[in-house]
Amino acid sequence: MADKLLSRYEELKAQVNFHNYRYHVLDAPVISDLEYDRLLNELKKIEADHPDWVTQDSPTQRAGAKVSEKFEKVRHPAPILSLANAFGADDARAWFERVKKIDDRVEKAKFVVEPKIDGLSVVLHYRDGMFTQGATRGDGEVGEDITSNLRTVKAIPLKIPVDSDQFSVISDQLLVASVPRHLVIRGEAFIPIKEFEELNKKLEEAGEKTYLNPRNTAAGSLRQLDPVLTASRPITLLVYQIVHAEGGTVPTSQWEILQYLKSLGFPVSDIPKRFDDLDSAIAYTETFNEGRDTLPYEADGMVIKIDDLTLAADLGFVGKDPRGAVAFKFPAREVTTTLLGIDVEVGRTGVLTPRAVLEAVEIGGVVVRNATLHNFDYIEEKDIRIGDRVLVKRAGEVIPYVIGPVVDARSGKEKTYRPPMKCPACGQPVEHFEGEVAWYCVNAACPAQLVRNVEHFVSRGAMDIEGLGTELVKILIETNSIRDVADLFTLTIEDLAVINEELNRKRKTKNPPKTPAKATAKKAPDKRPEKLFNAISNAKKQPLHRLIIGLGIHGVGEVMAKDLAITFGDLDNLSNATKDGLMEIGGVGPNIAESIVDWFSTTTNKNLLKKLKQAGVWPSEKKKTSASTGKLSGMTFVVTGTLPTLSREGAKEFIEGSGGKVTDSISKKTSYLVLGENPGSKFEKAKSLGVKVIDEAELRKMVK
Ligand code: IVH
Repeated sequence: MADKLLSRYEELKAQVNFHNYRYHVLDAPVISDLEYDRLLNELKKIEADHPDWVTQDSPTQRAGAKVSEKFEKVRHPAPILSLANAFGADDARAWFERVKKIDDRVEKAKFVVEPKIDGLSVVLHYRDGMFTQGATRGDGEVGEDITSNLRTVKAIPLKIPVDSDQFSVISDQLLVASVPRHLVIRGEAFIPIKEFEELNKKLEEAGEKTYLNPRNTAAGSLRQLDPVLTASRPITLLVYQIVHAEGGTVPTSQWEILQYLKSLGFPVSDIPKRFDDLDSAIAYTETFNEGRDTLPYEADGMVIKIDDLTLAADLGFVGKDPRGAVAFKFPAREVTTTLLGIDVEVGRTGVLTPRAVLEAVEIGGVVVRNATLHNFDYIEEKDIRIGDRVLVKRAGEVIPYVIGPVVDARSGKEKTYRPPMKCPACGQPVEHFEGEVAWYCVNAACPAQLVRNVEHFVSRGAMDIEGLGTELVKILIETNSIRDVADLFTLTIEDLAVINEELNRKRKTKNPPKTPAKATAKKAPDKRPEKLFNAISNAKKQPLHRLIIGLGIHGVGEVMAKDLAITFGDLDNLSNATKDGLMEIGGVGPNIAESIVDWFSTTTNKNLLKKLKQAGVWPSEKKKTSASTGKLSGMTFVVTGTLPTLSREGAKEFIEGSGGKVTDSISKKTSYLVLGENPGSKFEKAKSLGVKVIDEAELRKMVK
């Protein structure tokens, strides 16, 4: 009986470990969470009854006790080496030329390209197939014993090979001959980007401090004393090297090592590829530089390795860098620099946004002098101080932003930042609304807001007035030529000529010409004032929805502006709309409806509309029959089969144009089924539900 239970116990351990492997290593589970929990519970029950049976490879033994004071030191069985860097293809070729001179076998070498994951390098010991020790790299000779933390990383097998009986699912892998009695492998522990973002989101929601980046979080979580905390962090790893093997043989090429490690049940990246020549290897590497954002983890480059490990070893080292491999680095995306100051910008709606003024620094080939700091709360939460060394990130299309301060680099001279009490543009006191992070300048006449307002009004998506750049807009406002966007339409060519002169004068003082213009040279007449005048006049003819966009009502984008235009027809009607009336439009919720009503009830905006009307900027649009007054209002239709004259889209438009609604599926709530030729199953369903069936002619009659 006990024998049977013991063998069931062994079987359960193997099964749970195997399913762990399917989930955490292959990312391809074959059973549900529920089934997994059942197996685990059965296992736990046996262990509770027979504590003496429990072994170190049991999946229940991952999170152990806290490490008492500090980690023990571990001497590595062989040096844990580093890598020389190559910045670009030329550098990689230069490396190849150098090593070719040392050994001419390199000429015919094959290369393996692997991702260079930005994580924490770890060294894992297996004795007789059992995971017995895990260490950090340390100085390459001696590391720290972080076994109890590493045991919580589910991608690390506690026993290898992961039960080979169950391996039938994994094809095209080397047959596992034998596992060396003492096998030491190296890998990179890390937190995948998505998991990192989720972790930070959770922390933020819980009101806790968020982490700076995946690398520091993974390293920090593995190098603190409580395994329970490590277990709560989504750390995983990928392995790529055999550091030491005793009592058994292992492959001698890098490519085969990767396959071998995979066959033992270790997590191995599926990105590595083997190439017959360096150029192909470089080409593959470069595809990852461009497609870096597609990698699920942070990588700071790719590693190009000579495949033949005997040859690679024969090449020797330079310091701690083996000659047989090179790190092909991607341009950095995160750098540290000094925060010189914080500027405050005023947005269109009056929101004040802090912006970091940085000591110029190159990130990924671009010189960065400014970065966003999101909002004032962010500065306080991250405790960012003026004079701090800060970590700045620039990736893809994202605007550079300050991740946080490097606290260890502080000298004590850094100054805490205080948000402004007054708007930096107009000097009026700033305000903060309950429940919002933003601080606002609520002065409607604030020149900085007006600049942003006009910029938005003339932008391509709104009134599309070409030639009115920010510089000109600023001059128009500084010279009091305009006080709102309506004033643009009363500007004369003469006014614009004066503004243009001012612009030319400003530009000249900023960039004086190197050689003075010859007095005799005939100047071409400046066409800009006239062009601008025409562009402004033409904008009067822009359709209503563009004018609505230009007004900059909070929450009203292009699609909604179009809906508002066809529903209300002009700004007189829209000004009188009620919250309930607005909410009848699809996509308009209570918040947006309120924001529209608010906008039209403000005195400044009422005046603005009056001026626009006087200036002849009052477009109208053909109104769609309002849903509440149409003949079909309140009715729901489903169309099936081919109608004699109306297409499917045409029928939809016809019904909606008269205030009806069209849906795809029949229910008891359907008012009518419009039946055409060759109807589908909807006809049967309508009959069974007792829904009235009509044809196109009857539909037309209802509207007449
Ligand atoms: S090979 C001889 N391969 O990059 C072996 N390193 O300075 C030398 N790294 O901290 C290392 N991914 O932890 C190698 N696929 C990979 C790697 C990798 C990440 C890290 C490694 C080390 C640094 C190299």
